[in-house]
Amino acid sequence: MIPFILLLIFALNKFNYIDCVKTKQFMQCCSPFEVPIYTLNYFDMGGQAEFLRFILAEAGQPYIDNRIPIANWPALRPIFPFEQLPVLEIQQGEYFLVLAHPLAISRYLAQSFDLNGRNPTETALIDMYGSQMGELHNNISNHASSNLTGEFIQTWNKNLGFFERRLEKNRYGYLVGSKLSWADLYLSQLTEFLKDEKTRILERYPRVKQLDLKVRSSPRISEWIKKRTVTEL
Ligand SMILES: *[C@@H]1O[C@H](CO)[C@@H](O)[C@H](O)[C@H]1NC(C)=O
Ligand SMILES: *[C@@H]1O[C@H](CO)[C@@H](O)[C@H](O)[C@H]1NC(C)=O
Repeated sequence: MIPFILLLIFALNKFNYIDCVKTKQFMQCCSPFEVPIYTLNYFDMGGQAEFLRFILAEAGQPYIDNRIPIANWPALRPIFPFEQLPVLEIQQGEYFLVLAHPLAISRYLAQSFDLNGRNPTETALIDMYGSQMGELHNNISNHASSNLTGEFIQTWNKNLGFFERRLEKNRYGYLVGSKLSWADLYLSQLTEFLKDEKTRILERYPRVKQLDLKVRSSPRISEWIKKRTVTEL
């Protein structure tokens, strides 16, 4: 109910809302006494939103996990930027931030919750690996069938090779620097799309496997994994 009300308010243009270019202003404008309300809008599936749920879980940030039934989507579609999901909304006092595009959302969250590197170099490298995962994600989503053979596996092996070699170079066991970033969370979540093949395939990428285990054994992520709804996609 609450997210629907937020959307309605958004649609009625009542609030002084802003776009992502003015994020800094957004952070400055808002009273620290107003608790921000986060709403993640997506469908009832993992898809392009599950890694964002991983990031929010790791951040310990409560949010409304608004899963829009497919049947309601055509009517709601026009009120979202670019008419697509996922969309993150943050309402704080009278201000309202609406963000589309999974990578834009992940960078924003990572910046807010210290999962985005400690300096511009780390941030750029995290962004580079995260962007590659975004592309991998799009490529594997195009293989809509659950037939995990041929091209799908080739794409995976090529990319897992890149990530494995990166992890070989970084002795800390993370993709970049000495602490967890959103790129590590993204990689771990993405491996779920390997489904039944995951264990077998990751045998060949021991460092990726190790990182995945590390992410999944973090208390907040493991709590989320236990309580989340399991969906086919
Ligand atoms: C995605 O697919 C395109 C076209 O097949 C390919 O050129 C590109 O390298 C792929 N990207 C990833 C991340 O696998
Ligand atoms: C999966 O794809 C392979 C080739 O890419 C094909 O030989 C096989 O029949 C397919 N299996 C299913 C269940 O579609």
